[in-house]
Amino acid sequence: MRLILIGFGAVGQGFAKLLHEKANNLRATVGFEASIVGVATATRGNLYCADGLDIPALLSAAEAGSFASYPAGASLQRDLSVTDMIAPGAADALLELSPTNLETAQPALETCYRALDAGMHLVLANKGPVALHYADLGARAGACGLQMRCEATVMAGTPTMQLAQEALAGCQIQSARGILNGTTNYILTQMESGESYHAALEKAQALGYAEADPSGDVDGWDAAGKLLILANALFGSRLTMGDLQVSGIGGIGADDINLAREQNQRYKLIAQASPSGGMVKAMRLPVSDPLASVGGATNAITLETDLLGAITLIGAGAGSRETGAALLADLLAIQRCQCNQADASA
Ligand code: HSE
Repeated sequence: MRLILIGFGAVGQGFAKLLHEKANNLRATVGFEASIVGVATATRGNLYCADGLDIPALLSAAEAGSFASYPAGASLQRDLSVTDMIAPGAADALLELSPTNLETAQPALETCYRALDAGMHLVLANKGPVALHYADLGARAGACGLQMRCEATVMAGTPTMQLAQEALAGCQIQSARGILNGTTNYILTQMESGESYHAALEKAQALGYAEADPSGDVDGWDAAGKLLILANALFGSRLTMGDLQVSGIGGIGADDINLAREQNQRYKLIAQASPSGGMVKAMRLPVSDPLASVGGATNAITLETDLLGAITLIGAGAGSRETGAALLADLLAIQRCQCNQADASA
């Protein structure tokens, strides 16, 4: 599978490292072989090589801050724009990993449509296009015989979308409630240990949990974007941001955390949605509430279903490696589907 990556920040680099580390194992166990043929970034430059880019060299160049240091090669192209790179036949799948824009979803949305027109499957970690245009992207992909997958957009590699859409197929999901932002959960957990808000936020950025603009995390918009994705994917709703009440953790200080502790409570940024709407809000939970014990960048979600009652999933919610794992899982799912189709037509 030949891949083009749009964006090569923490998530793109985490994914590239995983792909490199696991290449032999994936080939031997599931016959999966992938090469990164193109990378386009806002600050480091662009690279395209139809024979595949060298991942260690790509990672070194990214660390040095510019693809100018990537070694020259006969078929290497450095001057292709994103638009020119996404040409029919240039790759099998496009991974949209650029920073999220939850107001317009651009420029990623146009990139996604262009990739579908060029015959590429879509795999997204960027939440904007899926939060705002889930149904349309899915329909366009389906009409072209392609897949649009977005496991990385909610709870990193913890398989929320696969659980809801594949393992719980046949169940009606009535509501979703949980902790959907790793950065704020990490900050609240660190504050409980006496760290300041700003020191904890800086650490969350250094650990690769926070968005490029962390106000999206602390003000609740990242969790709200994830709720929209879940509402679209789980309930078939077409909710918009206007259907959600959103607030963040900005007003919570050390005194609030200490007072809550004295009363056997903990602050958590809770996101919840039903088919008709939802909210993101910092709440004090009794320590006996299972969500109160979910600490650090870990996330959790409880899905209320008609056939199985409540199903709760707890796992990594952010991080370069953890999100890279979701991209890999989506690519493997695309490969499984292609194999099934090939078997069916044989
Ligand atoms: N900034 C996000 C978070 C990354 O902290 O949860 C994962 O979506």
